[in-house]
Amino acid sequence: RRKHKVTVVGSGNWGTTVAKLVAENTRENSDIYEEDVQMWVFEEDVVVPSDSPHYDPAVGDKPQKLTSIINTYHENAKYLPKIPLPPNVIANPSLVDAVKDSSILIFNLPHEFIGNVCRQIKGHTLPSARGISCIKGVTVTEDKVELICEYISEALGIYCGALSGANIANEIANELWCETTIAYNTPPCDLRGENGAADGDADGEVHRDARGKPSKVQLTPVPLDYPPVDHAALHRLFNRPYFTVSMVSDVVGVSLAGALKNIVALACGFIEGHGWNMTAKTAVMRRGMLETIHFCQEFFPETIQEMTFWESAGWSDMIVSCTSARNWRYSKMAAERGVSLHEIEKTELNGQKLQGISTTKEVMSFLKARGVQDKYPLFTAVEGIVDGTFKVEDIPVLFRRQ
Ligand code: NAD
Ligand code: 13P
Repeated sequence: RRKHKVTVVGSGNWGTTVAKLVAENTRENSDIYEEDVQMWVFEEDVVVPSDSPHYDPAVGDKPQKLTSIINTYHENAKYLPKIPLPPNVIANPSLVDAVKDSSILIFNLPHEFIGNVCRQIKGHTLPSARGISCIKGVTVTEDKVELICEYISEALGIYCGALSGANIANEIANELWCETTIAYNTPPCDLRGENGAADGDADGEVHRDARGKPSKVQLTPVPLDYPPVDHAALHRLFNRPYFTVSMVSDVVGVSLAGALKNIVALACGFIEGHGWNMTAKTAVMRRGMLETIHFCQEFFPETIQEMTFWESAGWSDMIVSCTSARNWRYSKMAAERGVSLHEIEKTELNGQKLQGISTTKEVMSFLKARGVQDKYPLFTAVEGIVDGTFKVEDIPVLFRRQ
């Protein structure tokens, strides 16, 4: 039987962490996975600092290719420093080469880059490949909002699920325990009978998209000489003793909870930078969760399941993001220093991205195009604070009740 080849598309703080844990699992589950995990790296020149154990006096301050640093020292010195990576994580600067022949593609990069990545790999991925998106964000085209996994699915003609949870990359890279949620609806064409034969299509079941409609994407079944890509296989690929995976089927809830909490995290950072504390933040988290659930129910009523908000991808992620993640931390810093978030992203983040900035803009442009922004006062206020047209001290006005 053939084994699944796994590629992680992206190598930032979370991309590298996921490559690490997946590579630990491919090594331990080499009956169904090839051990080597390809990791596509957006190539950059990086200077290894003189206090790093990998500093080579012969090279000095001369910039080195990030892929070469990762493959030589087994460390992503720029985005995940001081974390040893398993040697079976193979950094690859060529996107097309990294995804070639891979049957499982894990997308993990800031959401603003996914369009360009999909354009480059279209036609170069296995038609039967299956995807998991670890990306927190949405894409908005004209007046349509799309989940990132929907976008990937349509762009590449493959099925794609979503992984999202209360996950701070550095904690997981240090193997501090946490949970996550993976949403995956095994497509009917991949269902197999007891003898391993495909039987989903025989029952006339069609693959449905995230909105519950028959999918426009013609899926190629996973060939029978590969192990099935189902909940059990994905659990084996991602679950670690320090990373507890729950498998669900609500791709919409998992994707949108992960995207929209970044807007709320910005609000919490602004509030704390303004001098208010946990009580104000919990009021905003509650309001933010209501707007998130409302958004899901308004635009994806057919498939959303409210219990998803009690998974790691729901309330847990809301809480961790509003108390210790980057969107919260750096919006707090922006408010304290009285500078813009863009300025902070440029000066403080060393290439990392704040997904809340673009998600706020995209979600608001979608809501405004439909004339429904008044139903989302917190999201609207966050856009105003980012643009300088709304004041943090006016947030309580949003909560006034008759
Ligand atoms: P990051 O912010 O640490 O790094 C930015 C990445 O973007 C780098 O790998 C950089 O090389 C890459 N990049 C820069 N310019 C690019 C371009 N033009 N094209 C393609 N790539 C380019 O990234 P991350 O933290 O790995 O975030 C990836 C996704 O994971 C995001 O959606 C984020 O919300 C989500 N996430 C992050 C964490 C976390 O703790 N970091 C946790 C859970 C989810
Ligand atoms: P940040 O991108 O704000 O660090 O969020 C990480 C995250 O998604 C926590 O679950």
